[in-house]
Amino acid sequence: MAESSLRSGLTLRVIAAALALLLLDAIACYRIAAHFANLVYDRWLIDSTRSLAQALRIEDGEVRIQLPEVALQIFQFDAVDKTDFRVDTVRRGLIAGDAALPLMRGPADASVQLQTATVNGHPMRLVATTLPEPQAHDLATVEVGETLIKRSTLMTEILLAMAAPQLALLITALVFAWLAVGHGLKPLTALASAIEARGHDNMTPVSELGLPKEARVLVSKINDLLARLERAMLAQQRFVADAAHQLRTPLAAVLLYAERAERAADPDSERQALRGLHAAVARAARLSQQLLALARAEPDAAAERVLTTLDLVGLARGVGEEWIPRALERHIDFGFLAPDSPVMVAGHAGLLGELMSNLIDNALRYCGPRSRVTLSVEATPVPTLSVEDDGPGIPAVERERIFERFYRLAESGAEGCGLGLAIVKEIAALHRAVARVTPGSEGRGARFTVEFPSTSREPARAAA
Ligand SMILES: Nc1ncnc2c1ncn2[C@@H]1O[C@H](COP(=O)(O)OP(=O)(O)OP(=O)(O)O)[C@@H](O)[C@H]1O
Ligand SMILES: [Mg+2]
Repeated sequence: MAESSLRSGLTLRVIAAALALLLLDAIACYRIAAHFANLVYDRWLIDSTRSLAQALRIEDGEVRIQLPEVALQIFQFDAVDKTDFRVDTVRRGLIAGDAALPLMRGPADASVQLQTATVNGHPMRLVATTLPEPQAHDLATVEVGETLIKRSTLMTEILLAMAAPQLALLITALVFAWLAVGHGLKPLTALASAIEARGHDNMTPVSELGLPKEARVLVSKINDLLARLERAMLAQQRFVADAAHQLRTPLAAVLLYAERAERAADPDSERQALRGLHAAVARAARLSQQLLALARAEPDAAAERVLTTLDLVGLARGVGEEWIPRALERHIDFGFLAPDSPVMVAGHAGLLGELMSNLIDNALRYCGPRSRVTLSVEATPVPTLSVEDDGPGIPAVERERIFERFYRLAESGAEGCGLGLAIVKEIAALHRAVARVTPGSEGRGARFTVEFPSTSREPARAAA
């Protein structure tokens, strides 16, 4: 579920941040532990070096060291670490101790030098001090070394003592974070359950009550979407009901005429019934063809259609030619006006052909014989396609409504189903073009225009 992944996601982020902190903390603890372990044991080594230096004597003008064997054993006794020493003078070299320790001769001012070095394969801490011996005209260096086992044991102990409570603290904090994130997400969980429990057709707004600010933004967006969905759903329902209603009429007529033809007593009435049957089937066919065209022009269906740059003049000429036989049949003077040069628009040839056909079909259908219909293309001020006629025209009050689905003027006769101009409007919208109707140029008839946006050479994608 989305809610649980949000919770784990948030908690994982907190854990990652906490681990990074723990790592930094461990480094800091290690350094502190190392500092204190060295401090304590270095002091002890310095003391040992100084007490060894106390045992230096001058005899016969030479520097010597007098250490009873027992004292040496006590000095070197250590249950954990190995301790060594060496005493050197400049004149006589090594006078006591172990030559394996690397000699550190510092300034002859009794200060101490500290160093870590590897001796016989073991890391060792070394402390040395160099003393002037004026009576012997010599310099004596006393050096003590010790392996690091005690130091690292102490360091580990300090580290554990510091890190263990911090780790416990961290784990406690993570548990609290997990619980707090879960608690914080509760309103979202409740919201998800409330939405899940709804019926698929319940479009009433989701309640924002008791929700935190962030979730309220989400809910208000969901409510906007629900409102839009509801409008779209209602429009769709209305459309399906209208379409079914419209189909019922020609289908009822088909049945009626078929029965009449069957029962016809003489060839004349049979022919008449068959004519009626033919007209009813033609109406049903026209309606299904227009419904399909409308479905093709719907934004959803055309969302992925790419508009290409095409020549409106060439397209209009081609479509216009297809309608010449029909115009001749109806004794209509059908003309074509266009500039000589191409007029480019971003468009879909198939859909634009459908748009032009619907406008020409209307003009040829609703104007009486011997009227004049002109299909024209203009390049300026914006690319425009128009179909003008000198027929009955459209009353001013109807000029908006005739673009609605299934809307027809009362006097338009039985042919047609009222979808042609709705298709024109949808296709125009897909091209970001505006379809409108005005009276014809001499105040007579109707002029349907489709104004395209100013040409851009870039092929655009149809808006969803
Ligand atoms: N050129 C025109 N002159 C007069 N009236 C027109 C003209 N064009 C359309 N109309 C009116 O507008 C109405 C709607 O036209 P539309 O093309 O949408 O539907 P239709 O022609 O009735 O049906 P179809 O879906 O078959 O085209 C028509 O019924 C007609 O009354
Ligand atoms: Mg029509």
